[in-house]
Amino acid sequence: MNKIALVLVTFIFLTSCSKSLSKDEVEKYTIQGKEIAEATAKKLGSNLVEKMKDGGVTEAVPFCNTKAIPLTEEMSEKFNVSIKRTSHLLRNTDNRPNDEEVLVINNYRDLMSKGKGLKPVVELDKAGSPHFYAPILLQKKCLACHGEIGVDVTKKSDSIIESHYPKDLATGFKEGDLRGIWSITFISAVE
Ligand code: HEC
Repeated sequence: MNKIALVLVTFIFLTSCSKSLSKDEVEKYTIQGKEIAEATAKKLGSNLVEKMKDGGVTEAVPFCNTKAIPLTEEMSEKFNVSIKRTSHLLRNTDNRPNDEEVLVINNYRDLMSKGKGLKPVVELDKAGSPHFYAPILLQKKCLACHGEIGVDVTKKSDSIIESHYPKDLATGFKEGDLRGIWSITFISAVE
């Protein structure tokens, strides 16, 4: 190999290596991702609480059915990112995970089965965009719609859920279980 070729190869090698995130970038996207996920959870949660007050699960499920995705999209526009909630046990099949999300979910499930804590992950996705992932754990207030049928989820609620989501897999959770993940793409960061 002549000298020029060697320089060229070294250059390509170095520039391809720079296609990973720096420590500062990881920190920046972790902070932003957490803020966006929290704000979106709050937005969905406050709307849900109001609907539950109005008419319990009977009102809240149809509300989630038509509004959960548009509300998430509204937050995506606000923060100029793409926000998705996905899961290994889906209620709405439109929230289906892609290959990268499946890997993240499986990794979290594995850590959880070993009793380890779950932390957000920031990495470049296949398209080269910075991507934030974080676990969504089941809280007490989620049980009425995602807990055990006949115990937390009444039979009546179950039939309402079933009528909107005939393929629902998102019941039977206990407090603290992994319900799914946040998957946030920083689209604007791509040059
Ligand atoms: C009033 C019932 C209700 C409550 C309470 C509720 N959910 Fe849901 N959840 C739903 C419905 C309905 C959907 C499907 C929304 C859609 O069509 O996008 C859903 C979807 C989800 C999804 C998206 C993945 C999927 O399976 O489609 C996640 C994640 C989720 N819920 C987590 C939670 C968490 C965490 C809580 C508590 C903080 C909670 N939910 C409380 C009814 C509820």
